[in-house]
Amino acid sequence: MMSDARTPHLYIYDFGVGPESRAQLLGQAPSILWFTGLSGAGKSAIADRLEAALHACGRLTYILDGDSVRRGLCKDLGFDKEDRRENVRRVAEVAKLMADAGIVVLVCLISPFHSDRELARLIAGKHVFAEVYVHAPLAVAEARDTKGLYRLARRGAIQNFTGIDSPYERPTSPDIFIDTCTMSIDEGANMVLDWVSRH
Ligand code: ADX
Repeated sequence: MMSDARTPHLYIYDFGVGPESRAQLLGQAPSILWFTGLSGAGKSAIADRLEAALHACGRLTYILDGDSVRRGLCKDLGFDKEDRRENVRRVAEVAKLMADAGIVVLVCLISPFHSDRELARLIAGKHVFAEVYVHAPLAVAEARDTKGLYRLARRGAIQNFTGIDSPYERPTSPDIFIDTCTMSIDEGANMVLDWVSRH
């Protein structure tokens, strides 16, 4: 297969072992579970609980979390709209490769823009992809302030902070909606687990 206009001289080699063979070898169906929501909404806590449950069932999983990918893969990126898009794009490409490897991938990124989340779904291609909206009202996330960042953002010590001086576009039709004001971490994780077992 030939590549696009910016990389005209690349040809994709048709390797013999493909995603299907790997999934079969692992005895599992890979998927990409994309957690979006405000900082402090509970994305990582739910993904953590979900991963533990999947792991206990013998599933090979991996969590790609914003705070950690931004220390390596995305350490050259900041928080303006363009950099967030590149952050989402890179993580989506990695998630896709991991899913090709047969893994159940849990992505925890604020990913505040609708078009970026759509890009992530597009990159996932034929893989099972769920947009998981982990919701908490700003006032609740801010009151939790587990990392102390809302306080800094309110003081003006951090710019472009999601919910303060940078927008969060709520998903309009997420595959899974988890309200962490009314649901426990376990209930949230179970909702995703249910969805995974149905797909
Ligand atoms: S995203 O918008 O590009 O998807 P990502 O999930 O990778 O964001 O990173 C968010 C994490 O970075 C937050 O959990 C928080 O700990 C930290 N952070 C630092 N500065 C900001 C900021 N300006 N806006 C949001 N999160 C920030």
